[in-house]
Amino acid sequence: MSYNIAIDGPAGAGKSTIAKKIAKRLGYIYVDTGAMYRAMALYLIREGVAASDAAQISARCREADISIGYENGEQIVYLNGENVNGHIRTEEVGNMASASSPNPDVRKKLVELQQKLAASKDVVMDGRDIGTCVLPDAQVKVYLTADSRVRAERRYKELREKGVLCELDTIEKDIIERDRQDMTREISPLTQAADAVLIDSSRMTVDEVADAVIALM
Ligand code: DC
Repeated sequence: MSYNIAIDGPAGAGKSTIAKKIAKRLGYIYVDTGAMYRAMALYLIREGVAASDAAQISARCREADISIGYENGEQIVYLNGENVNGHIRTEEVGNMASASSPNPDVRKKLVELQQKLAASKDVVMDGRDIGTCVLPDAQVKVYLTADSRVRAERRYKELREKGVLCELDTIEKDIIERDRQDMTREISPLTQAADAVLIDSSRMTVDEVADAVIALM
């Protein structure tokens, strides 16, 4: 049987940093489910589907073949055979992912893919609904969070390092708005699973958080 670690939490809590680190230490596969929603969003943008057109999103999402692979330990997302890693980290794609991920047809398709991956391999999977919906039987479930200000500061630093001009207050406001959207949507809202362990990373280093998760195994 495969061993599954589920990490959920709001945007900017450090899920992917932690999940990658743990996967590397344990020799597990890291599955970034947000990247799959982003690849789907990229497809919809390219096809000219409007974020507000639920019927079109339901119909057209069936045409997108999304799969993942690994090169040098890095997850590659393929959209109809094309490596789209270089195209999914934009603001535009993030916004479309946020708008299209509540769609039940999009979720059904991607959740099935995620469950298939976890059934055959030891994985560390991060997202919003992994412990509650995708992998309800995961051996370890973590709900990773941090103060909105701390999350905004991390994002600010990241953007500044890339040379992007930005303002801390605006970033924090966006983070709070995205939390609200993710937590109040009807299907698979972001919430802590009853059997998940809460870790607040506001005043912890990456290694401290990774140690805490591994200690739960
Ligand atoms: O974690 P991220 O920013 O890459 O996620 C992109 C979007 O996808 C975000 O709006 C939340 C959504 N998402 C989701 O609904 N379910 C998941 N398991 C992962 C991400």
